[in-house]
Amino acid sequence: MAADPLSLIREHGRVPRHVAVIMDGNGRWASRRGLPRHAGHWEGMKAVREAVEGACAAGVEILTLFAFSTENWKRPQSEVDALMQLLCAYAESEHEELAGHGVEVRVLGEVSRLDSEARAAVALMEDATRDGAVLRLNLMISYGGREEIVRAVRRLAAQVHGRSLEPEAIDADTVEQVLFTRGLPDPDLLIRTSGEFRISNFLLWQTAYTELHIASVLWPDFTREDLFAAILDYQHRERRFGRVSTR
Ligand code: IPE
Ligand code: IPE
Ligand code: MG
Repeated sequence: MAADPLSLIREHGRVPRHVAVIMDGNGRWASRRGLPRHAGHWEGMKAVREAVEGACAAGVEILTLFAFSTENWKRPQSEVDALMQLLCAYAESEHEELAGHGVEVRVLGEVSRLDSEARAAVALMEDATRDGAVLRLNLMISYGGREEIVRAVRRLAAQVHGRSLEPEAIDADTVEQVLFTRGLPDPDLLIRTSGEFRISNFLLWQTAYTELHIASVLWPDFTREDLFAAILDYQHRERRFGRVSTR
């Protein structure tokens, strides 16, 4: 009998500490069923649960989910509204369960662009899960990689202007400290669903040496088995970081 994927992952031992996911394909999932796009987003909530539980089971420390990009604000208002309602519903229905599982939720992005109801949902989730020590779950909302870098440049420029920072003292660590992801290790593995081979303005700085895994499954159909398959794929990669092979 073939070993189950979780045992294989554990046997291999090199579990990615940080997994990032571009959750894509909700709209296509819905249109294939003759449903409105928002139905796909709602169905995608189940897949978020799968990813969170799967990450906990596999021993991943940080899970970073791309939920809403800077560019997604340009979608029709009705779709933006549906996504914001989904955020509120997710926070309401999941915050206790997440806290119970030891998940610490942080929402990263330009949260000030969210309306007051969505900001309250963010606060509810972050406050309820503050003590989580099993998994750190980053929900990237109103997030763009370029905007994050621009924001970081502005912050460093202000420090230089205020004479608390010398331009010569700026290095990669200094930049890292003014990103939304400050203090976290870079993603080891980035999964994108729906078969698209694009970064779409996600974690541009942090993915310099991240291993990429493109899955054809549409996000609402994503299960923990798909996560385990991606981790197993990752475990067979050789990460060289620009050096020569040590194998
Ligand atoms: C991903 O699914 C969710 C968000 C970007 C908010 P899409 O809505 O992009 O679904 P497709 O790519 O149109 O199928
Ligand atoms: C990326 O997906 C953003 C999220 C998953 C939140 P998009 O569907 O917005 O990206 P493109 O337009 O296909 O590049
Ligand atoms: Mg898409």
